[in-house]
Amino acid sequence: MNRNGRRIKSQIEILGDKSISHRALMISSISKGISRINNFLFSHDSISTLNCLRKLGVRIEVDNEKVLVYGNGLSSFKFYEGVLDARNSGTTMRLLSGILSGHKFKSIIDGDTSLRRRPMDRIIKPLSLMGAKIFAGREGKFCPIHIIGGKLNSISYKMEVDSAQVKSSILFAALYGDSTTKIYEKIKTRDHTERMLKYFGGKIEVNNEEISIKSSELISREVFIPGDISSASFFMALAGALKDSELLIKNVGINETRTGIIDVLKEMGVEVELLNVREDSFEKICDIKVYGAKELKPIKISGGIIPRLIDEIPIICVLCAFAKGESILENLSELRYKESDRIKSVVCEFKKLGIEIYELDDGIKIVGGKETKGGKVNSHNDHRIAMALTILSYISGENIEILNSECVDISFPDFYHKLKSIF
Ligand code: S3P
Repeated sequence: MNRNGRRIKSQIEILGDKSISHRALMISSISKGISRINNFLFSHDSISTLNCLRKLGVRIEVDNEKVLVYGNGLSSFKFYEGVLDARNSGTTMRLLSGILSGHKFKSIIDGDTSLRRRPMDRIIKPLSLMGAKIFAGREGKFCPIHIIGGKLNSISYKMEVDSAQVKSSILFAALYGDSTTKIYEKIKTRDHTERMLKYFGGKIEVNNEEISIKSSELISREVFIPGDISSASFFMALAGALKDSELLIKNVGINETRTGIIDVLKEMGVEVELLNVREDSFEKICDIKVYGAKELKPIKISGGIIPRLIDEIPIICVLCAFAKGESILENLSELRYKESDRIKSVVCEFKKLGIEIYELDDGIKIVGGKETKGGKVNSHNDHRIAMALTILSYISGENIEILNSECVDISFPDFYHKLKSIF
């Protein structure tokens, strides 16, 4: 397909992974010694974590894309009398709550209006079982949350939602536990925390769906943050949808818990090559080459693959809009609790562009391959919706005006600049 006559012949590099950047800061902060983080992502969300950690007394020095964290050990945070502001970042709030649950003072964490509607009971329940005293705002489920931490009990916990944020929050709290904490996942979610904790000397073992972790001192390390596959996915989709394109994306993280987008692209008829595959400290990295498809095929996705592409659903929906036939994406209930209700945001905005799309209970149906039109749409202040709509406009060649498009800074500050650079 090449609706607008454009094609890409280019090479780019994507900024560091957001999930791994948050974890690198947090884990370095509770390790002993100076950790150096290379290729750290300076986006709004990861800066929220950095600011909170500084308020908790952690010395963090920044030099270009390198960050030096002066860690003082597991229980080294200092009481902060103000409110820790996670702003738009669910990862900051949920993961930091795990660490604060192991600290013997009261902390308050809050966020913006989007974060105030995202459920926190999913972490409050396990952290309370471990002995932390947590009080939440509205209905006891939403932030601001107040945490009084201390020495914790180790627990056995069956995950109720497929969420790496919840799992990571428990893993962090488990570092302050009195024996072994066990976590059982029905469906495996991203495992960056497990890998990084092990790399920093944590006593953690993973056997299929069982994760065991004991209280352990962590030792500082040097970390390289791979390029973010979730950010790369917007460029992979664009190149894949424009016939005769070739795009090389250098140094992208390809942890198997994140590569669902590659499987989907291939299933839709896009050729994707993984070149120069290597392991850097604790994550797999490669260069990804994408070739534009002649035409895109519709898909059906549900079940175990969903956590492996949970953040890529908006951009997958864009591809489905250009794939001739009916695509059905199911088991997406978690999308309702992201930066916006992404099922509603996608359906509502795509409709404005003439796309045949339906909201299902826990999914989305798209009848693709028809004419689309231009128009005014809204990002719902959700970075991934803004980027998906932008890519949609590039594929369709239509003029699409996006309200609040600057919210891409949450995860991908140079998105628009990079996009211009590849043509
Ligand atoms: C993240 C996990 C995912 C993802 C989010 C980042 C993480 O959320 O959607 O963007 O860094 O652990 P859930 O774990 O809540 O599904």
